[in-house]
Amino acid sequence: MKFKVTVVGSGFVGATTAQRVFETGYADVVLVDIVEGKPQGIALDMLESGPVIGTDAQVTGANTYEKTANSDVVVITAGLPRKPGMSRDDLLLTNMKIVGSVTEEVAKYSPNSIIIVVSNPLDAMVQHALHVSGFSKERVIGMAGILDTARFRTFLSQELNVSVTNVSAYVLGGHGDTMVPLIGSTTVGGVPVAKLINSDRLEEIVQRTRDGGAEIVSLLKTGSAYYAPSAAVAQMVEAILLDRKEILPCAAYLEGEYGIRGLYAGVPIKLGSRGVEEIIEVELTDTESAALQASADSVQELVEIMAKA
Ligand code: NAI
Ligand code: 2OP
Repeated sequence: MKFKVTVVGSGFVGATTAQRVFETGYADVVLVDIVEGKPQGIALDMLESGPVIGTDAQVTGANTYEKTANSDVVVITAGLPRKPGMSRDDLLLTNMKIVGSVTEEVAKYSPNSIIIVVSNPLDAMVQHALHVSGFSKERVIGMAGILDTARFRTFLSQELNVSVTNVSAYVLGGHGDTMVPLIGSTTVGGVPVAKLINSDRLEEIVQRTRDGGAEIVSLLKTGSAYYAPSAAVAQMVEAILLDRKEILPCAAYLEGEYGIRGLYAGVPIKLGSRGVEEIIEVELTDTESAALQASADSVQELVEIMAKA
């Protein structure tokens, strides 16, 4: 039996995520958007690629949620992306309304699903989805850490002229200017990165990682990144559907882990068919620990603004 994956929001991230999942062949995909015809058109076009790719998976588009019923995984990408000069936080109240209304429908039609939130500002939106859905914390997860870590790994591999697969790293914390690329535990072919790149240059690479989303926004002029984000979402979907128990940096609800309570933050988790199956506590230096706390504080500020809205 094939799995069923719903992707809400058929914009750049939603459409490319749907394509990546559809092309694996192990899940039927439903694409939802408020714009009439858009998800249907994208889905039909994608479906017609099936004979070429060799997949019998189905992909359909909809403006309402009936066809999404009993999805195994629901990915929420609905909302506005940022424009040049905007921070992710500028999207807070607009996207909060969108993510809230989408989550109500998801909880109604797919009460046993696992929700992956992508909409920004990510950590606040996933916290809102947890609240609105009433799901357990294991079944509401945010995508950001895989993307931020992929950017960090890309820049390090370019710097050292080695395969990206040899760079092992984590970027933790919130998906914003305060994200925490870990230096202490980053290795290249097993060698600590601090032995390979001097600290000034490493700091430049860390800053480029923090600005990774804005760098793409300023180049694109309209819209934000979607190829790397959709690859990250597809990795999460696969880890859940195939119960891979893969350790990946994702936004998870913390209840004391890393000294953070009642808040989402990007941390390594074991991701499998039950969603967040374990939160992995890696050793942090004092500086990294303080940076993670500062990142959590900035997410807390957004959560408080939402609570008053
Ligand atoms: P986009 O503008 O291309 O697509 C958004 C889609 O959402 C549009 O098609 C729009 O019609 C739809 N939409 C709006 N309200 C809706 C509703 N109530 N129900 C269903 N669909 C609705 O934007 P893009 O590039 O796909 O980005 C989507 C979101 O993901 C943005 O908030 C962006 O900032 C965020 N993002 C987050 C990343 C992360 O690492 N967490 C990475 C990349 C993007
Ligand atoms: C990114 O980091 C926009 O959050 C998105 O590319």
